[in-house]
Amino acid sequence: MRVSTLLAAALLISAPAFAQQSGDVANGKNHFDNDGCWQCHGYGGQGAALTGPRVARTALTFDQFLNQLRHPANAMPPFEAPIVPDATARDIYAYLESMPKPPEAKDIPMLYATKGK
Ligand code: HEC
Repeated sequence: MRVSTLLAAALLISAPAFAQQSGDVANGKNHFDNDGCWQCHGYGGQGAALTGPRVARTALTFDQFLNQLRHPANAMPPFEAPIVPDATARDIYAYLESMPKPPEAKDIPMLYATKGK
């Protein structure tokens, strides 16, 4: 009883923090599609050689991601807090992390199709 009460209290305390940590995927998609990210990174976050790298399922931590938005490494324009607030950046990050995993090379039959076979 006592343990379960403590557990319930811990869940109640951590739930809002967790929600904030994980971000709102739908809102993130909305911003990714409307704040211009897709123009360089593609609607699927797949990236393109001449415009911007792949960002779907980025390996960056959220802090690294936020740092790239505020102080881009190179050609990407900066997105300051009045344009993309931290909470919105959190949602965009959640959206990018929610994107489906690409198939393994071994699961793409076309890569193994040989001519005339
Ligand atoms: C005008 C083109 C352009 C736009 C718009 C743009 N980016 Fe970028 N982005 C780049 C380029 C180019 C890079 C490569 C590093 C650099 O130039 O800073 C990059 C790098 C990144 C990276 C780092 C990828 C990695 O793994 O190193 C992330 C994350 C990222 N962009 C997210 C975003 C988000 C989110 C938005 C929208 C809020 C956005 N970008 C808008 C061009 C763009």
